[in-house]
Amino acid sequence: FFATVPLAPPDVIFNLTASYKADTFAKKVNLGVGAYRDDQGRPWVLPVVQEAKRRLLSDPNLDHEYQPIAGIPTLLAGAAKLILGADSVALQENRVTGAQTISGTGANYLGASFLARFYRPGAQVLISRPTWANHRNIFVGAGFEVQEYAYVNPSTLTLDLDGMLASLNSAPEGSIVILHACAHNPTGVDPTEAEWARIADVMRAKRHFPFFDCAYQGFATGDVDQDAWAVRFFVQRGFELFVAQSFAKNFGLYGERCGVLTVVAHNATLAKQVRSQLEKLSRSSISNPPAFGARIVSMVLSDPKLYAEWLDNLRTMSSRIREMRECLRDELVRLGTPGTWDHIVHQIGMFSFTGLTTPQVKVLRDSYHIYMTDNGRMSMAGLNSGNVAYVARAIDEAVRQ
Ligand code: LMR
Repeated sequence: FFATVPLAPPDVIFNLTASYKADTFAKKVNLGVGAYRDDQGRPWVLPVVQEAKRRLLSDPNLDHEYQPIAGIPTLLAGAAKLILGADSVALQENRVTGAQTISGTGANYLGASFLARFYRPGAQVLISRPTWANHRNIFVGAGFEVQEYAYVNPSTLTLDLDGMLASLNSAPEGSIVILHACAHNPTGVDPTEAEWARIADVMRAKRHFPFFDCAYQGFATGDVDQDAWAVRFFVQRGFELFVAQSFAKNFGLYGERCGVLTVVAHNATLAKQVRSQLEKLSRSSISNPPAFGARIVSMVLSDPKLYAEWLDNLRTMSSRIREMRECLRDELVRLGTPGTWDHIVHQIGMFSFTGLTTPQVKVLRDSYHIYMTDNGRMSMAGLNSGNVAYVARAIDEAVRQ
């Protein structure tokens, strides 16, 4: 029957990484996947992660036994505290639960599977236009009808709040809305606190269910608490919600696949019911989650000294990215590249939504060996002091063609 199986298209993001790796040009640049690189263009193992690994590996009692189905309890507690805040009323009221997942993708997937089973039948899922490509894959895969809400104004590359509110208002009552907690992927455009309040008002009036995706906590403002503001605000406003937390980016643990689906319910009994079903879903999909990355994250989140060091490591990453935003903008201005480039420094997180068109992106790839997604998203983490002038020159030439 294999003859009946159609060929699926390659994944847009990981296919770029493969093309980049296969490219033999010395000055090639990968601005595709959202993965941090240091100023030499190398992957960065966070010093705090190295320390946690050293401690783990020197523990004579370290074993490789199965973990509980919902994951390592100290990881779940640490993740909930990180996103909700140590003083969270929901935590004090014991109405927060969760499950460890295969990074942020797994958290989205587990949440989607849960909602497909238990949320009201026929509910729509709303994702931002544009969004991370995997959102659509995951929610369509779970059987949902997926619609888009307006998010960014394509001419100014800033938030289209009116468009967003109009989309949320016209969606059927009780839709599931995927919100990026911070550092929106791919645009790098986040609502302000006042804008979040208006979004929450509409979500409340329309009884929509907020499903936050939080893959970049610490990368937006460099402050993990500030980056959790929107989620904490929605909790204060009394929403039940999901948060998909990834520790791939903020711990540099991409391949270890450590994430958590954190759930805030209205009371402890409901949290327990949800948790029991999440465990059932996890048991039938992954049985129980991988231990290594989770042990590292759990150790760092629960040790005050390591935690402080982690915040410092995070600042190293987010400030280098911010510097690269300035460098690229300055180079483009210096070259007199047609267009305006201030949005590169105003956008936040790991990405810039450059405004480059698909044909311009293709020129960068084909003529300059610079790889980025067709929608003009650039992973700023791929820029460094050795390649930013080259990239700016290439953009300049592509824009003038
Ligand atoms: C990205 O958007 O580049 C990252 O989140 C990697 C991924 O899983 O797509």
